[in-house]
Amino acid sequence: MNFKNKTAIVTGATRGIGQKIAEDLYDLGATLILTGADRDRIKRLRGNKRRKYYHLDFLEDESVSEFIETLEEYEKIDICINNAGINRINYIYDIMEEDWDRIMKVNLSGPFRLIKEAARIMKKKRYGRIVNIASIFGTITREKRAAYTASKSGLIGLTKTAALDLAPYNILVNSVSPGFILTDLTKRILSSKEREALRAAVPLKRLGRPRDISPVVLFLASDLNTYITGQNIIADGGYVNT
Ligand code: NAI
Repeated sequence: MNFKNKTAIVTGATRGIGQKIAEDLYDLGATLILTGADRDRIKRLRGNKRRKYYHLDFLEDESVSEFIETLEEYEKIDICINNAGINRINYIYDIMEEDWDRIMKVNLSGPFRLIKEAARIMKKKRYGRIVNIASIFGTITREKRAAYTASKSGLIGLTKTAALDLAPYNILVNSVSPGFILTDLTKRILSSKEREALRAAVPLKRLGRPRDISPVVLFLASDLNTYITGQNIIADGGYVNT
């Protein structure tokens, strides 16, 4: 795989899965537009000519508009990886409206706005690869996951329709659904006991790492992917079939 002469957006690239995707794209030659929601951290991260960091918080309209404006500085955008995402778990009768709205804004409306913007730019060159990071909880679910599952199922639906709308412009749109990946997000949500139980339940007998997900995303975002569009690829060590 080679990403020389490709310009790629990766949202939520400051840690976890997004950080690994960004590192791998960088190593393979891409020019990167990377985002994170923590303003101070973005200021501290030093970019270079081929790797620029921008503040993007889907909960702040102004931040989204500013980010979209900065995209005008780029001659083209070839790849857009919608990776940023959040999770709060709670029983449906306890979910606060505010949490529901936040999850929808970050996990679903954010990708929608970026896909729309990226597609506008990609259409001009009649080339694009969009990969949305969904979740196994967009396909299956568990208790306390109503908001997260609704957002990720929505993202998978958005992927399928965007793939149809953008196919005439040679823009391929897919989603990747990770299983349980050890990142800050999982550490925040799952106790060590819960993580241990999940490890035992996964057929491959281990939790995933960001490097289990990145190659799948890179393939779908690369020129090697010439005919897959509108698909959701599950990378979960076999968990959804148990
Ligand atoms: P993480 O919590 O380690 O990183 C999340 C990233 O999203 C950070 O860079 C953060 O700055 C950004 N972000 C957070 N709030 C934001 C906001 N309001 N606006 C814009 N950006 C924001 O998460 P992780 O685990 O790397 O997850 C990445 C993606 O993978 C998410 O979409 C998540 O739902 C999905 N996923 C993760 C799984 C896991 O087990 N870790 C499993 C399935 C899906």
